[in-house]
Amino acid sequence: MIEVKNLTYTYMKKTPFEKVALKDISLDIRDGEFLAIAGHTGSGKSTLIQIVAGLIDVEKDIVTVDGESVKNKSARRKIGIVFQYPEHQLFEETVEKDIAFGPRNFGLSEDEVAARVDEAMKLTELDLNLKTASPFELSGGQRRRVAIAGILALKPKYLILDEPTAGLDPKTRKNLLDEIKKLHKSGVTIILVSHYMEDIARLAERVVVLTSGEIVFDGTPRKLFSQNEILETAGLELPAATRIMQKISRAGFNVNTEILTIDEAEKEILTTI
Ligand SMILES: Nc1ncnc2c1ncn2[C@@H]1O[C@H](COP(=O)(O)OP(=O)(O)O)[C@@H](O)[C@H]1O
Ligand SMILES: [Mg+2]
Repeated sequence: MIEVKNLTYTYMKKTPFEKVALKDISLDIRDGEFLAIAGHTGSGKSTLIQIVAGLIDVEKDIVTVDGESVKNKSARRKIGIVFQYPEHQLFEETVEKDIAFGPRNFGLSEDEVAARVDEAMKLTELDLNLKTASPFELSGGQRRRVAIAGILALKPKYLILDEPTAGLDPKTRKNLLDEIKKLHKSGVTIILVSHYMEDIARLAERVVVLTSGEIVFDGTPRKLFSQNEILETAGLELPAATRIMQKISRAGFNVNTEILTIDEAEKEILTTI
C-alpha cells in the first residue's frame, strides 16, 4: 500500500511566485487497485504523482510505500512512473538499449536484462525485430510503447502513468489502454492520471478528483458521473455514453443513467425501449 498523509506542497515557497499546488492531501493506494486521478489542467495531478514516486522531495513520513518512506531507494524502486510524452525521453541508439537502460542501472545480470527486455516488449506488443531499430525510426505510438516498456522492464509493483494516451490516434490509444488493463489483471497496481473521462469510465475502479490542489471526490466512476456538480466545479466532462443516458432520462424515459460505456448504453436502450 502507498500512503500519503497530510501532504501540502508549495512551489517556489517564500518568493513572490509562491504557488500552493497541493493542500492537505491524504490518500491510501491499495495493492492491486486501478486508481484514476482526474482533474483539470493545473489541479495538481502531476505534482501529486511526482511526490508519490519520490521525485519531488517532501518530509520523511508524508509518503510511505508498504510502510517504508519513499525517501528510501528500496521503496522508490517499487514504483514505476511513465511521464507525459515519455517518448521525448528516449535517447539510446537502439530500442533494446533504451529498454535495457533501467534494468542495467539496477545492476542486474546481462541475462536477466535481456530477459526483461523481451518480456517488456511482449507486454507492450512490440515486435522483437525492432530491438535493433533506432527509436527515431519508429511511429509515435511505437515510440511511446518503447518508453513504457523501459519502465515495465523494472517490474514495478506500482505503475503510475501520467496522461499516457495524450496525443495518440484513437486506435493506438485503445490498444495502449487495453495493455494497461492487462497489466492490472496481471497484478500491477495502476495509478492512471487522466482528464479523459472515457478512459476512466472504461478502466478505473476508483477515481480521485483534484480541484485546485484538493481532493473533492474519492469513489467509483459510476458514483462520480452521477454527481454532475462535482464534475462541473472540477471542469470535467461526462463520458458520452453517460451523458446520452442522462438526456434520455430527462426526456422522460425510465432508463438507468448509471452507464459508463457505449456497450452498456446500447444494452440499456435495447432492453427498455
Ligand atoms: N515547476 C513548477 N514551478 C512552479 N509552479 C509549478 C511547477 N509545476 C507546476 N506548477 C504549478 O502547480 C500547479 C499544479 O500543477 P500540476 O501538478 O502540473 O497540475 P496538472 O498535472 O494537474 O496539470 C499549477 O498551478 C502549476 O502552474
Ligand atoms: Mg500534468
